[in-house]
Amino acid sequence: MTGSRRRSSDDGTDDARAPEYHRPVLVDEVMRHLIGGRGLYLDGTVGGGGHALALLERCRECRLVAFDRDPEALSAARLRLAAHADRIRFVRGSFREAAGDRELRAEGLDGALMDLGVSSRQLDSDRRGFTFRRGAALDMRMDPGAAPTAAAFLAAATRTELAEAFRAGQAPRPGALAARIVQRRARRLPRTSDDLVAILESVLSRRATHAEKARVFQALRIRVNDEIGALRAALPAIRDVLNPGAVLVVISYHSIEDGMVKRAFREWSDPSHGLPPRLPVRAAELTPRGSVLTRKPVTPAPEEIEANARARPARLRAWRKAA
Ligand SMILES: C[S@@+](CC[C@H](N)C(=O)[O-])C[C@H]1O[C@@H](n2cnc3c(N)ncnc32)[C@H](O)[C@@H]1O
Repeated sequence: MTGSRRRSSDDGTDDARAPEYHRPVLVDEVMRHLIGGRGLYLDGTVGGGGHALALLERCRECRLVAFDRDPEALSAARLRLAAHADRIRFVRGSFREAAGDRELRAEGLDGALMDLGVSSRQLDSDRRGFTFRRGAALDMRMDPGAAPTAAAFLAAATRTELAEAFRAGQAPRPGALAARIVQRRARRLPRTSDDLVAILESVLSRRATHAEKARVFQALRIRVNDEIGALRAALPAIRDVLNPGAVLVVISYHSIEDGMVKRAFREWSDPSHGLPPRLPVRAAELTPRGSVLTRKPVTPAPEEIEANARARPARLRAWRKAA
C-alpha cells in the first residue's frame, strides 16, 4: 500500500512528486479466485483502482461496476482505468447499496471483491484525519459528504455510546476512555489527533504503544463510517446477486471483519453448523448455498510484506456460490 514516489495528487491528477495512491495487496491471489466468467464484476472498494486494473487487464471480456464512498478515490481510479473506460462504471456510494444497483440485479455478478478498510492515500492525508500523526483534524469520514466527523461524534455521543464504539472496535480500556472523554470535553472539545492522543495517554499512560493508539483511532474510524454495519448488510446482499458458480472475495485488515467474513462463509456453506442436534429443520434449509474456497485465510508472502508493510494484516477469504 505504501511505496514508490509516483502518482496522483490530491485532486486525482498525475503528479510525479506525489506518493503512490495505494498499492493493492494479494493481487495474484485475488485474481486467481475471482476471475471465472466473462461477464459483470463488482469492485465494492475500488480505491486507487489497482485490483480493478488487474481484473480488466487479465480478463478482456469482463466488465466492472466500481463503488467507493470516497470521491477522491473515484477520481484517482477514473484516471488510472481510463484505458478501460468502456468496460467500467463508477458509483459513488457504499457497497452496502451495491446489490440494489439496477444493472447488477438484472444481470447478476460473475464475481465480487471487497478490499476493506482505508487506502494508503486516506491514511497518509492529514486532512482526512485517519491517523494519530500530530495536528491532524479528527475527521475520519470516508465520504466527506457524510456526517458526523469523528470530532462531532466525540462531542455528541453519550458515555455509553463512546464506550460501545471503543469496545466494538477492540480499543483498550473502552469504559475508562469514554469516561475521560466526557470529563475532558466539558472543558474543551477534542478536535485534533493531539487532543485525542492526550486523552488516551492520560488513560493508558504516556507510554501507550503505537499499537494501542492505533486501536483507539481505528475503533473511532470504524464507528464513524459504520464499517461493521456496512459489511454485515453487504455480505448476504452481494451473495444473493452472485450468479451460480461466481466467487466473492473479501480482504480484511482486522480480526473483527475477518471473523464476520469467516462466520458468514461457513454458515452459507454448512447451514447446519452450530445448530443444536435434532432440531426440526426442513432439508431445504440445510442445503449449502456454496462452498468456502479458502480453508485458512490467504496472507501476503514475506516478500510482499517486505515491499509493502501495510499488507501485513491482510487476510483474504473467498467463497463460491453453488453452480
Ligand atoms: C483498501 S482500499 C481499496 C484499494 C483498492 N482495492 C485498490 O486496488 O486500490 C479501501 C477503499 O474502500 C473504500 N471503502 C471502505 N468502505 C467502503 C464501503 N462501505 N463502500 C464503498 N467503499 C468503501 C475506501 O474509501 C477505500 O477507498
